[in-house]
Amino acid sequence: MTEINSVTTLTQDGDIAIITLNSPPVNALSAKVREGLYEGFKAANASDAKATVLICDGRTFIAGADITEFGGAMTGPSLYDVQEVMENSPKPVIAAIHGTALGGGLEVALCAHYRVAVPSARVGLPEVALGLLPGAGGTQRLPRIVGVEAALDMVTSGRHAPAKQALGMGLVDELVEEGKLLEGALAFARKAVAEGKPLVKVRENNAKLEAARGHPEIFAEFRKANARKFRGFAAPEANIKCIEAAVNSASFEEGLKVERKLFGELMSGSQSAAQRYYFFAERQANKIPDVPDDTPIRPIRKVGIIGAGTMGGGIAMNFANVGIPVVIVEQQQEALDRGLGVIRKNYERTASRGGITAEQVEQRTGLITGSLSMEDSFKDVDLVIEAVFERMDIKKDIFAKLDAICKPGAILATNTSGLDIDEIAAVTKRPQDVIGLHFFSPANVMKLLEIVRADHTAKDVIATSMKLARQIGKIAVLAGVTPGFIGNRILAQRQREAQNLVMDGAMPWDVDRVLYDFGFPMGPFAMGDLAGLDIGWVKEKSHGETIRDVLCEMDRRGQKTGAGYYDYDENRNAKPSPVTEKIINDFIAKSGINPRKVGDDEILERCIFPMINEGVKILEEKKAIRASDVDVVWVNGYGWPVYRGGPMFYGDLVGGPAVVLKKMQEFQAKMGDQFKPAALLEKLAAEGKTFADLKG
Ligand SMILES: NC(=O)c1ccc[n+]([C@@H]2O[C@H](COP(=O)([O-])OP(=O)(O)OC[C@H]3O[C@@H](n4cnc5c(N)ncnc54)[C@H](O)[C@@H]3O)[C@@H](O)[C@H]2O)c1
Repeated sequence: MTEINSVTTLTQDGDIAIITLNSPPVNALSAKVREGLYEGFKAANASDAKATVLICDGRTFIAGADITEFGGAMTGPSLYDVQEVMENSPKPVIAAIHGTALGGGLEVALCAHYRVAVPSARVGLPEVALGLLPGAGGTQRLPRIVGVEAALDMVTSGRHAPAKQALGMGLVDELVEEGKLLEGALAFARKAVAEGKPLVKVRENNAKLEAARGHPEIFAEFRKANARKFRGFAAPEANIKCIEAAVNSASFEEGLKVERKLFGELMSGSQSAAQRYYFFAERQANKIPDVPDDTPIRPIRKVGIIGAGTMGGGIAMNFANVGIPVVIVEQQQEALDRGLGVIRKNYERTASRGGITAEQVEQRTGLITGSLSMEDSFKDVDLVIEAVFERMDIKKDIFAKLDAICKPGAILATNTSGLDIDEIAAVTKRPQDVIGLHFFSPANVMKLLEIVRADHTAKDVIATSMKLARQIGKIAVLAGVTPGFIGNRILAQRQREAQNLVMDGAMPWDVDRVLYDFGFPMGPFAMGDLAGLDIGWVKEKSHGETIRDVLCEMDRRGQKTGAGYYDYDENRNAKPSPVTEKIINDFIAKSGINPRKVGDDEILERCIFPMINEGVKILEEKKAIRASDVDVVWVNGYGWPVYRGGPMFYGDLVGGPAVVLKKMQEFQAKMGDQFKPAALLEKLAAEGKTFADLKG
């Protein structure tokens, strides 16, 4: 055995050289791994072996680039050097794949002459998810193997193809028995030597590219079909352009040049910076400074939910999906039946689209039972989540009852959107067991979970909630008790300014267009129409005091009535409404305001800057641990475009605290104290710090 370096060995089995990488946890392409590969292949090529197998120890093949090295200076052999020495090896090179070969990992494997894999392996080029493209020949080699359409799909979705599918596409040449990868790879290598199999250089296979040459419609159609999904993102388009270049370039090298150039542009651009930042932000959100990883966990074997409405039903599904039984309590049989019926329908819809099997529908609905009595049903539950109407008196009443019914140690959670959880906890004799679990609607779909820590919440209750969130596939962020917590408190700023902008003379569709173009899935007025303008509106108390009141009084209550801020056609396509415009103009005239033309820049800045300022206030009050947690809430729960990182990242992007402060001061002088800068904002600006410095 030859030790090539600390992570690489070279051994020989009969005629076959074996290069083994062992760089835990995932054999990422660090400088050491690149060096090991480069020197390892040079040594193998110089040896008397007749073929070389590349295999990895541990749980996976080279899982991808070493993302912690991104942006740093490159040392030692480049990935390109490694690929050259592999591809130009005078004897067959066989990559033996288990675990995942993603990104740079697959790009290395594509420079082997053959690839074998175990059935559980997965391969893919997921760079697009970090705002990048596979920059080591991936966009040039992949379509040469799988064809243009399949390559377009893989690089723009970043999806991982299971080994069997990869075999079907030609990305893998042979599947070998699970657990016997080395034996299988050696057998393949011996066969290659015995049969004199050719040294296949992917770069030289042009047949599939030639088939697509002269068919620009392939790309045009692909772009059109995915326009909505790719909107605003730079990386999918750059990936498409690379594959176009593979098809249209005179040589492999020329295509590679396009790939390099576009990779460089993405890598130095703000979108990929935002997406890479965000990747770490989500992981960071799991860390709570005073709740260490080894904090004990309370077992959650059975969950109780109160209220089978919009939220209660969706929340229940999360637990049934992972096999945890749930009992939902309602006050009336009718409401219970309706709630359980909606759950069943949701599952059946998923099944009809092929998401789950008919059997799973029965399994999951079977795990969700209904009851009209907390006394009967909640004695043995480990966690209760209350999801009744947003009223303090009802919630207090329920928590007092839970205190009397639930076993000691049961976690008592509320799904309130923003009520004071300390006040709720205070009606129990066990405030240490009370916590907020703020799900987002639809609760079975939305990834975000705000976990709200009240004054007395025990650490193991927090640790248990964080772990449970992961178990049900949520991304959790810890918040403190403050009206609206992190997300809704910041949202309130944007909503207020959206309304104020309309009173100044902007139309709802102007505000919506600017925010949509910024990257939100829809603007606040379109959102209002979708949700229903009558949420929280009481007919008897409505006297035309707001534009919303007037709209609701005219039965323009949003999409469901065919009209709201917008007019809707039978397909629910929105059109700016002359009726709404007149209502607004009359309203403004009545208020004695002189409407003015409001520019797009002003719309954006008045909506966004107060959000950043509010994020700083939340951090100042320690209701969020770190700036990146605020960003995780907004990207996951409110549609902030991930390629802009989140409000706090965006604040740094537009110039940092000093620039945000200046804007807020300017707005405050013109329009009043709703724009008052946070004290911490002033401090950050004075000290020349960034928002990213608020690390908790
Ligand atoms: N809808 C959302 O988008 C959303 C998002 C996050 C949080 N929330 C919060 O979730 C909670 C529930 O909201 P929702 O939209 O599901 O409301 P909903 O009106 O759809 O459902 C509430 C359900 O609770 C039941 N209920 C009321 N009092 C009860 C009691 N004493 N015992 C048993 N059942 C009772 C009602 O019959 C109703 O079915 C609220 O606190 C709300 O602020 C809502």
